[in-house]
Amino acid sequence: MQVTRSQMLQFLCLLFCASFIETRYTPDWASLDSRPLPEWYDEVKFGIFVHWGVFSVPAFGSEWFWWNWKGAENPAYVQFMSKNYPPGFSYADFAPDFHAQFFDPDQWADIFEASGAKYVVLTSKHHEGFTNWGSPNSWNWNSVDTGPHRDLVADLGAAIRKRSLHYGLYSSLYEWFNPLYLSDKQSGFKTQEFVERKVMPELHNLVNRYKPDLIWSDGDWEAPDTYWNSTGFLAWLYNDSPVKDVVVTNDRWGAGCYCKHGGYYNCADKYTPEQPPKHKWEKCQYTSKHSTVYAIFTSNPMQTTFMLSAPKTSYNTVVTLLGNPEPLKWAPLETSGFIVVLPDLPFSPAEAWTLKLDKVA
Ligand SMILES: *[C@@H]1O[C@H](CO)[C@@H](O)[C@H](O)[C@H]1NC(C)=O
Repeated sequence: MQVTRSQMLQFLCLLFCASFIETRYTPDWASLDSRPLPEWYDEVKFGIFVHWGVFSVPAFGSEWFWWNWKGAENPAYVQFMSKNYPPGFSYADFAPDFHAQFFDPDQWADIFEASGAKYVVLTSKHHEGFTNWGSPNSWNWNSVDTGPHRDLVADLGAAIRKRSLHYGLYSSLYEWFNPLYLSDKQSGFKTQEFVERKVMPELHNLVNRYKPDLIWSDGDWEAPDTYWNSTGFLAWLYNDSPVKDVVVTNDRWGAGCYCKHGGYYNCADKYTPEQPPKHKWEKCQYTSKHSTVYAIFTSNPMQTTFMLSAPKTSYNTVVTLLGNPEPLKWAPLETSGFIVVLPDLPFSPAEAWTLKLDKVA
């Protein structure tokens, strides 16, 4: 058979061209959720989250200081203010005292690295709206115009990346007291001024400038994803941004070990590996390495036996509790899963217990 040059080219293209065509995601959840989780995130098991902002100045309560004081009018916060600050002192008045004069990013990064963490996430902007970089959309309410007069996001990022740790940025979608946000809220989120004029340009700025390996999105809960333009933003991020391998998450810490979805909203809510939990101990997070699976629990079961429904055991399966030398007694359940006898667990100070399951599927 005579093969023409053009037929030959077509054939070669069929073979090779496909591998050069990038997947493009469309701005809908089905398409966005089909994106595989970047590999590095599946492998790193431990990261560090840093909350740092104007709330660090009063250093009372938590990063929710402003809300607790002015939003919820929690008496403990109101009293703290009247006791320690003059009348009329506003939250914004804390900003000039956010000096960060002892901030040594290399020292921080050394400590992070020594801890064994593989990634670090900094609050680039918490719900107070103060940005730890000179955001053009946060005039006079950022760490360059006031306070440290320093680009904290850039400086920490440089130190982190020198040590080949991954750098993630937390960014709150909503801002408690931003007038644009409050006005959108007033309209029942029919208007999108805040998203168009603040959230979108600011997120683009953050991504283009710092190229984070991970974006920790948060503060979505008062409004629907359509208001936040979540799918529009994610399609841009995955298709056209300079960080196409970025991980997007906001699950507290399950995601770090395990969630394969990387959804814009709480992954844990969308992705349940097991049947709905019968009791709270079944709610655990799995992570794995080779044929070993780790099941992590964050509350004391207050019982001596415990059932896991997902893992498939074999005769060779060995179950141990990390920190406890003796292997635990266990028995398989009907189709999959097993029941295990636990040793006495302390109420505290541990915040998590890990069962190590060798030779399970
Ligand atoms: C939604 O996001 C995309 C990508 O960032 C952007 O092009 C579009 O203008 C945004 N829409 C709104 C309403 O903000």
